[in-house]
Amino acid sequence: MKTVYITRRETFNAAHKLWNDNWTDEKNEEVFGRCSNHNWHGHNFTLYVTVKGAPHPDTGFVINLKDLSEIIKDEIIEQLDHKNLNLDVPFLKGVLASTENVIIAIWDRLREPVSKAGGELVKLKLVETENNYVEYYGGREPF
Ligand code: NI
Repeated sequence: MKTVYITRRETFNAAHKLWNDNWTDEKNEEVFGRCSNHNWHGHNFTLYVTVKGAPHPDTGFVINLKDLSEIIKDEIIEQLDHKNLNLDVPFLKGVLASTENVIIAIWDRLREPVSKAGGELVKLKLVETENNYVEYYGGREPF
């Protein structure tokens, strides 16, 4: 099969803090530093969603990017954009809002709708700052 990997980029901004409720304030500050600031801090996040498949003979598309964009907007951007990741997002309730944990939660929301649209989700990349990003392959090794 002539597998092609196609990626859609979307952006959102959100506030969070890194905080473990089971720890003292001192321990949180020691481990998380400035990221544990009580009154939050924000990032402009960039999310890359990669889907694989063979181009369909009728369209030449692996997946219609308009459909993929709508899924990402409905499932993720509408839920996270201009929100506090610790407080405002039902699907992140009880989750320590690190970028690592957020990308896993995003995968779990996207996998099924992407599959229904005819694509297979294979990779997410979530950029938090120009120096930091995380990647997730659904718990599998990449290649
Ligand atoms: Ni942060």
